[in-house]
This record gives sequence, C-alpha cells and structure tokens, in this order.
Amino acid sequence: MNLNSYHYSENTLYCEQVALADIARRAGTPCFVYSQAEILGRFNAYKAGFGDTPHEICYAVKANSNLSILRLLAGAGAGFDIVSGGELFRVLKAGGDPGKVVFSGVGKTAQEIDYAIASGIHSFNCESPDEMRLIDSIAARLGKKVRVAFRVNPDIDARTHPYISTGLKKNKFGIAIRQAPRLYGEALEHKNLLVEGVSCHIGSQILETDPLVEAADRVLELVEGLRAAGVPIQYLDLGGGLGVSYQAGEPAPDITDTVRRMVEHTAGRNLTLHIEPGRSIVGPAGVLVTRVLYRKHTEQKEFVVVDAAMTELIRPALYNAHHDIVPLRAAGNRGTFVADVVGPVCETGDFLAHDRKLPQVMPGDLLAVCTAGAYGFAQSSNYNSRPRPAEVLVDGAQWTTIRTRETYDDLVRGE
Ligand code: LLP
Repeated sequence: MNLNSYHYSENTLYCEQVALADIARRAGTPCFVYSQAEILGRFNAYKAGFGDTPHEICYAVKANSNLSILRLLAGAGAGFDIVSGGELFRVLKAGGDPGKVVFSGVGKTAQEIDYAIASGIHSFNCESPDEMRLIDSIAARLGKKVRVAFRVNPDIDARTHPYISTGLKKNKFGIAIRQAPRLYGEALEHKNLLVEGVSCHIGSQILETDPLVEAADRVLELVEGLRAAGVPIQYLDLGGGLGVSYQAGEPAPDITDTVRRMVEHTAGRNLTLHIEPGRSIVGPAGVLVTRVLYRKHTEQKEFVVVDAAMTELIRPALYNAHHDIVPLRAAGNRGTFVADVVGPVCETGDFLAHDRKLPQVMPGDLLAVCTAGAYGFAQSSNYNSRPRPAEVLVDGAQWTTIRTRETYDDLVRGE
C-alpha cells in the first residue's frame, strides 16, 4: 500500500483520523472514501513544481467529477480540463472559474461548443480541421473571439497500456505534428479564433517521464516554427498522464520533480504552461471499501466474493489493472491464502484481483481496494441494476457523505 493518508493504528485502517470501518458501518458498502489532505497535498505538489513560472493546473475532471472534489480543487486555485458539456456543467455548479477551463476531446458537439463559448471558457484544445471551422462559426454567431490550441500528436510511445496511450500516429487523438503548421496557418484566417496555444497529451498512467520530456521537445520545436511564421503562441498545454503507484513497492514519478523538469525544459521562452493532471491528484487519495460476502472453493480455485464489482471499479476488467487489496483489520498472524477477488456481477470479467495473496478473511470482513480515487466512481455503471455506491470525503477527524448511495428508484428514474 502506498497511500500516505491511510495507515494502520492498533490494527485498524484509518483514512486520516477516521477508522474506515466506522465509515463502512454508517455509510454502508461498497463505498468510495477519499482523503481531502491527500488530494490537496497532491495538487500543492504540482503548484510547488511550478514555483513562479506562469502556469495553470487544469484538473482533468474525468478522473473524479464529484462536485465536492471539484469545489475543493477550485478553492485551491485549480483550473479544469473538461471533455464534455456535462463536465462543464459540473465545474460551473462547483463554483469553478470558467476562465480557467480548457475543453479537450476528439468529438465535441455543436451544442457543447456553444455552451462552452457562452460560458466563457479559457480555450479549446482543437483536434481536427472540421472542429476548428465549427468553433469559428459558432463563435461568429455568438459574436465572440475564442482562444484555441491545436492538440498535436507527437508520435511518441508513452509506454503505458494501449487503451490509454494516445500519442501515437495510429491513435484517434490530435493532429499529426507535421500537418500542424498548415493548420495553424489556416486557423489565422478565421476571424473569430485567437490562435494562441499548442497542446499535447500522450497518454495516462505514465511511469517513466522521459516520453513526456521527449514530447515536450517535439512540441517546443513546433512552437518555435509557428512563432517564426507569425503565429502568436503564448501557452503550451502538456496534458496529463503522470502515473501513480498501484502496488506496494512500485515506484511512481514524484510530482514536484517531474513538473520542475518540464519547467526547466521549457524555460526562457515566454510561454505559460498548462497541465491537465487527473489520476495523480485523486487516484492515491481514494479507496473502495467492500465487504466479503462469501468464501467459495471450486475444484480449481479459491474465490472471495465481495459486494463491490466491476460496476464500481472497472479498471481490473478493462485494463487488467492491479489494485492492492488490504483488510480494514490488520492481518496480524492470521495466515495467508491465494484467491480471486470477484464481485456479484454476472460476467467472468467481473474481478477485482486474480490469484491474489490475501490474509485469511471471513464473510463479513471489510477490505479496502487501494488507489481507487481516479477512474473508479467516474467509470461506474448500473449494470445488473446495481445502485451506484456512496462517496465519502474525509477531512481530519471529520467525514461527510459527498454522494449518497443510489436507491432502486434512482435506477428507474427516466424510464
Ligand atoms: N488530458 C487529456 C486530454 C486526457 O485525455 C486525459 C486522460 C487527461 C488529461 C488526464 O490524464 P491523467 O492525468 O489522469 O492520466 N480510464 C483510464 C484512464 C483514461 C485516461 C483518459 N484521458 C484508467 O482508468 O486508467
């Protein structure tokens, strides 16, 4: 376990100063628990890396879009990276500053573009010539000038899972870096566009930072070329992607060090830096608390059936991702065994861990699935008509429910 804000005291797992078992008892299981101190600490680690360099830290809302978390980050000075009208709605509802919102994504609809311009967002990270023309025409209709960056694809292998690698030529994202100068030239002709940025994002859960630096190098070269051609580039958006440790002992890049490296690399060019971190801010701040329902032995395997499933945390099923699983009551000398940890959903793909060494557990015992703060609840579903779980935010010795567990009525609302 690599979570700073989670620790055992007298054999009991705490988030900050709250015993997770107390939360489980009152909020029920499964439920997500997040540490406020951990979220803020990670956001501040980004800030520290930038120091005096002009910058904007645009939290990637997709990682965890709970209003309370957005409000917390807005209060700490964050901007936001959004990929849909729904995410913009959430940011505004949470009191986020629209002037610090960047809109990313390969398939923005006319309605979303309209909503974003009317809300006064900072800029669009534009991904295609068609999108550029659409943004210009909607801006013209609204009588506004709109800031854009093109998301360029530097063709760099982020060396991460293929589903979350985005910076290769074969990926659907961005525009080829070689085609960028022509597109920037065309963009200057559009009267309602302020062509002031360049953006790139090469993938997520990046554990080696060299590809990030390589990508920055390629993009900087482009910036120089564009400026020489008269495009007034003022900011560089380096995307998100910094990885976190999902397994005890797995090294993850240090946030502040990595940002410093990027800052040094881009220094002296009169560029404001933007970044769009998601996972590295909220991932390690959250756990998914679940209760053991049954132990089950088949001829071949041992199973621990728990009340959380792929509906709460799809990462193991979708990316074969590893999440450490630890007991809420420390193991002591209970002994260990090897089992698959599985949920109630009717899919063989519904598992939280395969062949995992666990301390002896019994039905009724509580477990924490670690590093579940990012892309956990955000990717949850109602499959098998399972109500979505509660979410809880811990602050010191206090905790509050920041999303109530869904009811059966919630399941059928709208049908
Ligand atoms: N900016 C853009 C344009 C992105 O596409 C993403 C993530 C981010 C920023 C934030 O990246 P982060 O700092 O969180 O790595 N569901 C997957 C992750 C998908 C990431 C998609 N894009 C998972 O659970 O691993």
